[in-house]
Amino acid sequence: MPAKAFDPLEVPVAEWTPGLTDCTFFDSISAQALDPMLMLLAQLRTDTRPDKIDMGIGVYRDEDGKTPVMGCVKSAEALLVRHQASKDYLSPEGDPDFLRHLAPIVLGPTHAADPRIAGIQTPGGTGALRLAASLIARANPKARVWLGQPTWAAHAGLMQSGGLDTADYPFFDRVTQNIVFDDMMRALEGAKTGDVVLLHGCCHNPTGAEMTPAQWRAVTELVQRKGLLPLVDIAYQGLGRGLDEDAAGLRALLDAVPETIVCVSCSKNFGLYRDRIGAIWIKGATAESTQNARNGLMMIARSMWSMPPDHGASVVRTILASPDLTAIWRGEVDAMRLRIQSVRAQLAAALPAIAGVARQTGMFALLPIAPGVATALRVEHGIYLMDNGRINLAGLRDATLARFADAIRPYLA
Ligand code: LMR
Repeated sequence: MPAKAFDPLEVPVAEWTPGLTDCTFFDSISAQALDPMLMLLAQLRTDTRPDKIDMGIGVYRDEDGKTPVMGCVKSAEALLVRHQASKDYLSPEGDPDFLRHLAPIVLGPTHAADPRIAGIQTPGGTGALRLAASLIARANPKARVWLGQPTWAAHAGLMQSGGLDTADYPFFDRVTQNIVFDDMMRALEGAKTGDVVLLHGCCHNPTGAEMTPAQWRAVTELVQRKGLLPLVDIAYQGLGRGLDEDAAGLRALLDAVPETIVCVSCSKNFGLYRDRIGAIWIKGATAESTQNARNGLMMIARSMWSMPPDHGASVVRTILASPDLTAIWRGEVDAMRLRIQSVRAQLAAALPAIAGVARQTGMFALLPIAPGVATALRVEHGIYLMDNGRINLAGLRDATLARFADAIRPYLA
């Protein structure tokens, strides 16, 4: 008779420790509101209206409103199923080949070969930012991280949970839809040597506003003159003007400054959101200080997640190691970008009050709407956007754009 198959449900559960249920350990934690993004997601998922429009979370959607697995990813996954021989641990640095292939895409070939630049793999761009915060806190616990207003909602929490204080610089005027560059520079003059300036590499979240090359040069001059550390978050490369174009500001900064941290996400441009894949690169003044910093990152990673998840890294490595798959990936990124640009142009034409969205880049725009308008749109029209007025343009389609424009027009100045 064959042996009975193992059934985990039949394994007896250990006796519950007597008295543990009386414990009031968590009573000291006060009731907490969820992050607005997570609340919006929960509301969206319970809304049964078939014509609801999701312009909330920053996820690319195609003309059918779907976020399909990219073709290049499906092909890479098929190869992995066939050829991946082990799921043994790698190391806190992750997959070195993933890093080797991704570096020239993000940093450009010259910086990718610079011994003063080294990186490790992280769980998403979020993991990279969290590691950056801890590394900065080790190097200079007094550093303040200067965040543009507005910025991605998670930036402040990520920096603060690493033990750092944050300070604000003005970045954007939602009425004119322009960067308030003079105000930004004036505020950054107040930073002290050893402070950190967080910059968005491209496709600014939540505004879509892009610094010009001249503005990147002016910021570069300021951080050098004042001895500030630039921390560049690049999460949407390829979805703005093009893969190289979107990294041009970052690469020019790397040309000029002795030290930089770069946090990268592959969530959007590889569509690997839930696989949590990203990277952090450090540029130090010498190859030795970079290696010390990189070892510091690995030790911090070891104390948080030990080794990063591998699947996304294996997929990206497989794509970038193959010229054929890389060409398919580039084509797919181009198609996403062109669709977003087309939505931007159509929305600007439909709503002259926010014509500025046509000259912005990436998935987001920040609309000049009063508090409460997002709630009204959600309740009355089933249109989901962030309470602060951020919209994800990739959430619009030919079939829904006019309905969205008609719903929001009365609320725009
Ligand atoms: C967004 O800004 O919508 C995305 O980066 C998702 C997130 O976690 O906030």
